[in-house]
Amino acid sequence: MRNVLVTGGAGFIGSNFIRYMLAIEPEINIVNLDALTYAGSLENLRDLSSQDRYKFVHGMVGDRSKVDQILRDHAIDTIVHFAAETHVDRSILGPAMFIETNIVGTFELLEAARSYWINESAFSSDQVRFHHISTDEVFGSLGPEDPPFSELTPYAPNSPYAASKAASDHLVRSYGKTYNLPFSITNCSNNYGPYQFPEKLIPLMISNALNGLPLPIYGDGKQIRDWLYVEDHCRAIREVIRKGNPGETYIVGGNTQPTNMLVVQTLCEIMDECLPNSKFVPHESLITHVIDRPGHDRRYAMDISKISTELGWTPKLTLEEGLLKTVQWYLENQAWVEAISNQADYQEWLSRNYIQRGGQK
Ligand code: NAD
Ligand code: DAU
Repeated sequence: MRNVLVTGGAGFIGSNFIRYMLAIEPEINIVNLDALTYAGSLENLRDLSSQDRYKFVHGMVGDRSKVDQILRDHAIDTIVHFAAETHVDRSILGPAMFIETNIVGTFELLEAARSYWINESAFSSDQVRFHHISTDEVFGSLGPEDPPFSELTPYAPNSPYAASKAASDHLVRSYGKTYNLPFSITNCSNNYGPYQFPEKLIPLMISNALNGLPLPIYGDGKQIRDWLYVEDHCRAIREVIRKGNPGETYIVGGNTQPTNMLVVQTLCEIMDECLPNSKFVPHESLITHVIDRPGHDRRYAMDISKISTELGWTPKLTLEEGLLKTVQWYLENQAWVEAISNQADYQEWLSRNYIQRGGQK
């Protein structure tokens, strides 16, 4: 791993990953290719813009000639592919972009890697790696007694987002089998932490609680997710690229599976402690049940024994520690939240999504 192309590096996990890798790997250079959709912002990387080991390129992963040029100009030996449309609710209201970015975009990126690394023999196969960032959502939903997802769980995606990620996972795997493209895949659970776009559950609840707005819980709030602090995820990705064999997939998760209601109640308690003089204390009184997400997966849980045993990775932060750090970061970075939330299309989308769920404006 010497010259790394990170796609989607202006988004939540990608920006955390670039910051983490530049700090921990003194020898690597990173090129960040990002389309700067509503979810991507150069504000997420402002502190890195003057680093000479980091370069930003504005563009789409599906732009084949641009990707070809990046690979050659920077002698890229490692691709870490984050770029995607990522919000399940948006995939329900408008799936087309998910097909375009997540499936067709991944296909074009794979073709570019195949052409440069394999057809042109730019490197030997042990020098290159295509690492694909995927999700637990490809496995569908668990019943209350089912064992957690493992690397052997069959795919059964339920939302257009999950289906598009499943398709991209299959494409990556097929390039390994058919063309000997050295790849790895991580299927990770829900991330949270700094720089997460405020449409997602945890940052949305923090923002709304701060402003005295309703905290919308979909359905009964008894859905279960596995939560992982973003830096723990970044560490897992690094371990897989460095130590994981090509052709392997790894489940990555936080070993913590609260209901959504418990997550939101815990956030409210933290907000009460951090802001004792707020007129919205107790913040829990802002919780409002709204119409459920169509096709809403009930339960996710992760069996992380493969990555723990083979690569020695386990999450470091407990959910309580991670939530406290996250609330503190959002409270200290309100200017970032306001700048990123003030896009007209985001406000319009947020209110459409809320009204669709029976919420009153
Ligand atoms: P995000 O929505 O915060 O960021 C996505 C980034 O991709 C943005 O910067 C956006 O501008 C960029 N992008 C979108 N389309 C692009 C295109 N065509 N070309 C180049 N860039 C493009 O996403 P995130 O939450 O950081 O997720 C990153 C990856 O991790 C995704 O592949 C997602 O499926 C996966 N993942 C996310 C989570 C999670 O909880 N957030 C969990 C598991 C897996
Ligand atoms: O599981 C990994 C996935 O986690 C990633 O692949 C996705 O990219 C990422 O967006 C995330 O998907 P979720 O749908 O789980 O995340 P979200 O934050 O949207 O919702 C988390 C849970 O909270 C889910 O059960 C829906 C619920 N929810 C969400 C919102 C935004 C609410 O109850 N109210 C809300 O307002």
